[in-house]
Amino acid sequence: MSPGQPGPGPAQPAAQTARRAARGIARCVFAVSAATAGSNAALADPALGLPPRAALSRIELVRAELGRQLFFDRRLSFNGTMSCGMCHVPEEGFASNASQQAVGIEGRSLRRNTPTVLNVAWMSDLFLDGREHSLVTQAWSPLLHPDEMANPSPGHLLARLRGMADYAGRFERAFGGRSASMDTLGEALAAYQRTLVAGDSRFDRWRYGGQSQALDAQERRGFALFTGKARCALCHLVGDSYAHFTDQRYHVTGAGAAWQARTSIEVPLAPGVNTTLSVTDREAYDRAPVHDLGRWEITLDPRDRYAFRTPSLRNVARTGPYMHDGSLPTLEAVVDFYTRGGGPAPDRSPLLVPIALDASERQALTAFMRALDSQALPALIRRARSPYASGAAVR
Ligand code: HEC
Ligand code: HEC
Repeated sequence: MSPGQPGPGPAQPAAQTARRAARGIARCVFAVSAATAGSNAALADPALGLPPRAALSRIELVRAELGRQLFFDRRLSFNGTMSCGMCHVPEEGFASNASQQAVGIEGRSLRRNTPTVLNVAWMSDLFLDGREHSLVTQAWSPLLHPDEMANPSPGHLLARLRGMADYAGRFERAFGGRSASMDTLGEALAAYQRTLVAGDSRFDRWRYGGQSQALDAQERRGFALFTGKARCALCHLVGDSYAHFTDQRYHVTGAGAAWQARTSIEVPLAPGVNTTLSVTDREAYDRAPVHDLGRWEITLDPRDRYAFRTPSLRNVARTGPYMHDGSLPTLEAVVDFYTRGGGPAPDRSPLLVPIALDASERQALTAFMRALDSQALPALIRRARSPYASGAAVR
């Protein structure tokens, strides 16, 4: 399909059926918030423009409500101060706008920026280096990380959870008699995150919803640049019947300062006696990375050094600052970065080359990215803080 033209391409019948099913369930979730908000949201389709995906069942919605409560419960951290939702803040695009790198328990800094969990159900590899593949097991990473929620062991947290009166019987009801366990806690958190369906942007209405007026001329120009001259869609994919805005692959863009971090390191041998080791030498005897090597840390393949997963750009205007270390503060800064052909890292992706974009073209590109905000976001934010299983609809 040629860039700049509205309207969907021919979708596969099977894909259509799956998508309809996914929309049905998303509508069901939304019907509840629409009822409480007295709005029209029940008519909207939050999955518009997203790849087809299997529907959530009724029992999964019961689990999602349990997971929602857990996601915002600070008692899930060792000292009762940190919840998932304090880094993945609903009002900040389910990311953290305030800090370049995430700040965990007792103010400890992590090395990476908090990615959004909106539409995370569509991610096959999780984390910026792709080290996890399931939302169920992923949750245990922050729960146990000493700088995040710092639980000393799964058993320690599960024993505390079983003792909390407000969760009495909740796991059993949601999981056919199974109590809180590594599996059921992970399942509940995963179920909640799978309800964070945030397609249906003005872009989706224009391209997949047949609303030719949903984007203005500048945004349409931005889309043409995005898929054409500016080369963005080589990695942030846009399809004929949906757009995930990511190829779910790993690329070296040269963003951030990690790759230019020290190439050598001073190591003390004895008081007052130091020796200088190259970073490569140090990595040879100690796997603890001295700086963020991205995908390489998982594969140990030299080609993956400093490569990070392509993020989706849905809701991107809400999720700054940008890149794996939050080093680019605005979408304008990101566009400037790409016009230079990315950062001057060794082994940068050959897909990135300097692009001559004038000021109005740069503005069009950022305007287009701002049109990727989901119309479903306000409802997701509202629902994050209030139970939605109290009504009959998801029982
Ligand atoms: C201290 C802040 C912090 C807390 C607390 C936290 N996260 Fe995260 N989350 C992050 C960061 C940073 C990353 C990226 C880490 C990486 O790539 O190595 C991340 C990544 C993720 C991802 C992967 C997203 C993707 O696109 O691949 C999911 C899912 C997620 N977190 C869910 C959770 C859940 C569930 C909890 C609570 C059990 C939680 N997070 C608690 C900061 C946090
Ligand atoms: C070679 C593949 C590739 C191309 C081409 C590409 N990107 Fe990216 N993009 C990535 C990767 C990989 C990241 C993550 C980098 C990181 O985390 O350090 C990224 C990150 C971003 C981010 C930050 C998102 C976030 O949540 O932090 C934005 C915005 C973005 N790209 C927009 C664009 C635009 C606009 C273009 C075209 C001018 C473009 N990209 C071209 C691969 C690409």
